[in-house]
Amino acid sequence: MTRPWNDPYRDIERKLTVQPELFLVAVREERVRGSVMAGYDGHRGWLYYLAVDPADRGTGIGRRLVREAEERLSAMGCPKVQLMVRPENARARGFYAALGYEDVDTWVTGKRLIADEPAPPRP
Ligand SMILES: CC(C)(COP(=O)(O)OP(=O)(O)OC[C@H]1O[C@@H](n2cnc3c(N)ncnc32)[C@H](O)[C@@H]1OP(=O)(O)O)[C@@H](O)C(=O)NCCC(=O)NCCS
Repeated sequence: MTRPWNDPYRDIERKLTVQPELFLVAVREERVRGSVMAGYDGHRGWLYYLAVDPADRGTGIGRRLVREAEERLSAMGCPKVQLMVRPENARARGFYAALGYEDVDTWVTGKRLIADEPAPPRP
């Protein structure tokens, strides 16, 4: 899921400063099983970084994380939630389709505002 230009540690630190209540972590028996990062920008809700531990996939954790994020966004008045999936990620596309998400024909473009240094090795 991660890419060299995304340092997940730094991304978590940033998320903890903005709507930290929309950063959800699924824990069972003191082990992290999955997580999702959501945000509401006043127009749309966004989901990022949804992932479930490979050993726990297919047990409903992904669905529960997305549903909880949807409920929290709805409670904030957010009218629509969306997300980006890399085209080759067929599993995620099937997962989101099963949860009622519909494809949107759009061109995603972006511009980096902070050029992070390459992520240092971490445990
Ligand atoms: C995508 C991912 C988060 C799904 O999590 P999960 O916990 O395995 O999914 P769930 O067990 O909650 O599945 C929920 C439903 O989606 C369905 N589903 C899951 N993957 C599916 C697929 N590829 N095609 C069709 N349906 C799928 C399940 O059958 C289930 O339906 P059911 O409740 O009616 O049985 C998980 O596969 C993952 O971590 N993938 C790697 C990271 C990733 O690609 N994240 C997405 C980035 S955009």
